[in-house]
Amino acid sequence: MSSPSWDPTLYLSFDDHRARPFHDLLARVGATAPRRVVDLGCGPGHLTGLLTARWPGAAVGAVDSSPDMVAAARERGIDARQVDVVDWMPEPDTDVVVSNAVLHWVPTHLQLLPRWLAALPAGAWFALQVPGNFGAPSHVLVRGLLDQPRWRGAVDVRGDDAVPEPGDYADLLAGAGAETDVWETTYLHRLTGPDPVLGWISGSALRPVRDALSDADYAEFHAELAPRLRAAYPSRPDGSTWFPFRRIFAVAHTR
Ligand SMILES: C[S@@+](CC[C@H](N)C(=O)[O-])C[C@H]1O[C@@H](n2cnc3c(N)ncnc32)[C@H](O)[C@@H]1O
Repeated sequence: MSSPSWDPTLYLSFDDHRARPFHDLLARVGATAPRRVVDLGCGPGHLTGLLTARWPGAAVGAVDSSPDMVAAARERGIDARQVDVVDWMPEPDTDVVVSNAVLHWVPTHLQLLPRWLAALPAGAWFALQVPGNFGAPSHVLVRGLLDQPRWRGAVDVRGDDAVPEPGDYADLLAGAGAETDVWETTYLHRLTGPDPVLGWISGSALRPVRDALSDADYAEFHAELAPRLRAAYPSRPDGSTWFPFRRIFAVAHTR
């Protein structure tokens, strides 16, 4: 599956919730004075700035395959380049790589990780976070709807195999000779407003659907999906909605 198009504004509409795993990931990176830091799949660059703030002496760079995301990051003053991570390799002085909510879009990332680790200098850090919620109702309902005759064959979305289990990342990183720190967290996001889960996934998991369908078909798809999501994630008496979101974290420290 090719990388979908991205809408920086839509993606940033849940900024506070989406930023939380980045902070939790970064907390486990022990670098003190890295020379070069890379945000791999930087998105609109609003989190890349946290890398600059933490390591002001480092050359902080960013890559992303989306021209719109790269443009948004550059507007923030980030040194962002349009590169597909599949074609990316670290420069020899890269001491920290952070990849937050990106690699689940890259089906070959399990082959790329050992190559990247091998190219990093000793003592470098590679920190990644991917969603581990492909079996959650938010995704199962999308795939179920896409399997209906009306939509079948219209679009290919990532299935349960998009990311492996935490233990698989641990084995992979340890097998590449790195010290590994792997964990998972289920955040219980408190969302507000009408159809908030639909709004959330419109900025991320539904991007391939948005790309594949015409405006009219996408509106129809949205309208069919909305009541299903409402039933799976009911609104609470105060109008808020709990949205559980499992995420997988893996940090490798090269030797
Ligand atoms: C969910 S956003 C995450 C952005 C940012 N890392 C964050 O935490 O807010 C996913 C980003 O991955 C980028 N992306 C997806 N596939 C990619 C690829 N193959 N190469 C580079 N970037 C990719 C998308 O363009 C998008 O900006």
